[in-house]
Amino acid sequence: MSSTSSTGSTGSATSSTTTLITNIASLVTNDPSLGDGSPLGLIQDAAVVIDGDRIAWTGDSRKAPATDNRVDAGGRAVIPGFVDSHSHLVFAGDRTQEFNARMSGRAYSAGGIRTTVAATRAASDAELERNLTHYLAEALRQGTTTFETKSGYGLTVEDEARSLRIAAAHTDEVTYLGAHIVSPDHADDPAAYVALVTGEMLDACAPYARWIDVFCEKGAFDGDQARAILTAGRAKGLHPRIHANQLSYGPGVQLAVELDAASADHCTHLTDADVDALASGATVATLLPGAEFSTRAEWPDARRLVDAGVTVALSTDCNPGSSFTSSVPFCIALAVRDMGMTPDEAAWSATAGGAAALRREDVGRLAPGAYADLAFLDAPSHVHLAYRPGVPLVREVWRRGTRV
Ligand code: NIG
Ligand code: FE
Repeated sequence: MSSTSSTGSTGSATSSTTTLITNIASLVTNDPSLGDGSPLGLIQDAAVVIDGDRIAWTGDSRKAPATDNRVDAGGRAVIPGFVDSHSHLVFAGDRTQEFNARMSGRAYSAGGIRTTVAATRAASDAELERNLTHYLAEALRQGTTTFETKSGYGLTVEDEARSLRIAAAHTDEVTYLGAHIVSPDHADDPAAYVALVTGEMLDACAPYARWIDVFCEKGAFDGDQARAILTAGRAKGLHPRIHANQLSYGPGVQLAVELDAASADHCTHLTDADVDALASGATVATLLPGAEFSTRAEWPDARRLVDAGVTVALSTDCNPGSSFTSSVPFCIALAVRDMGMTPDEAAWSATAGGAAALRREDVGRLAPGAYADLAFLDAPSHVHLAYRPGVPLVREVWRRGTRV
C-alpha cells in the first residue's frame, strides 16, 4: 500500500466541492443493494464520491464520475465511521484503585458510581468539558464519528443539567441518566429521588437531551421505578433507552421492548423470553464488551441474539468505572473472539447497528445521501479489525466530508 495522497486543491470538501476517493481495496457501505449484496454491501476495488458533507456516489472505481478533487486511498479498506451509541463521558476523577482491586478479585457493583459522582460534583464546568473533549478526540482518532453520551454522575438538578448542557455542546446524541443510581443524598428515600428525577430534574434536563435512560438493576432501579422514569421522560419528549440485564436477570429488556426503547444496553443475562421480546420489536440490543472485559464478567451471547434475528449494536460504554476504553476496534475484537460474532457482523454492529440504536439513517453507512463519515484502515479489509487486535489500524478519519 502506498501512503494516502490527494491531488487537486485539498482533500477536504465544501458544499460546492466534489471529491473522489479511489483505489479503495474494499469498501463497507452497509447498503445491501450495493456490492456483494451482503448486509455489509461490500465493494472491492471501490471508489466513493463526496459532495459537501454527504456521500454522492459509491461503486466500482473504474466507473467513478469526474470530480473536483481526487484522493488515492492507497489500496486500503474504507468503512463507515463508527457509531458509538453508548458512553458516559461527562465525569471527573479516576477509579484506578477500584479497577486494581477488581483485578485482584473484588467484584464489580453499581456502588463504585458514587466515587465518580463525588468527583464530578466537585469539578468545574471547564474541567468537565476538558475531560469530555479529551475522550471525544481520543475516540475520533480511533474512527468514531458519531457519539452518544450521558449524564449520570451529577445526580442533583444542577449537576445533571450542567452535565447535559456541556455534552450538548459537542454532540446531538445526549442522554439524561439522572436515574443512574439513587443519589447518595436520598439513600434513605429512593421514592423521593425518583420523584426528583421525574419532576424538577427532568424539567431542567429535558431541553438538553434527546434520550432518557435508567440503570434497571439490583442496587439501582427496579422495573416499576424504571417504567415511571421512562414514561415521565417520554411525556417531556425524550425517547427511552435502558441499561438492562447487565449484572443479573431482570425486567429491563422486556420493559425496553414494551416502551419501544431505541436500545436495551448490556443484555448480558437474558432469558429466552427476553431474546424473543427483542426479536419481536424494534429495540436494538446494544452489547458493551468493554464492560465485561474490565469487570471480568460473563460475556453477552451475541451469537444467540443474532441467530434469533435481533438487531445488535456494539459500543464502548466508555466510563471511568466499568469500561474505560474509547476504542470501538477493541470492542469488535472482543465480540468476535468471545461473543460469537463473525468479523462481518461485528463491523456491521459497530456502524449500522449503532446507527439503529440511535434511530439514525444518515450515519453508519456509506450510500448516497448519508453523511460522509468514514475511516481508512491500514489494512486491505475490515476483517483486520478483529484479526489484528490492539493494533491502531485507523489511519485517517473523515467527518462530514472533511478530513479530521
Ligand atoms: O454502563 N451500568 C451502569 N453504568 C455504567 C457503569 C458506570 C460506572 O461504573 O461508573 C455501565 O457499565
Ligand atoms: Fe453504561
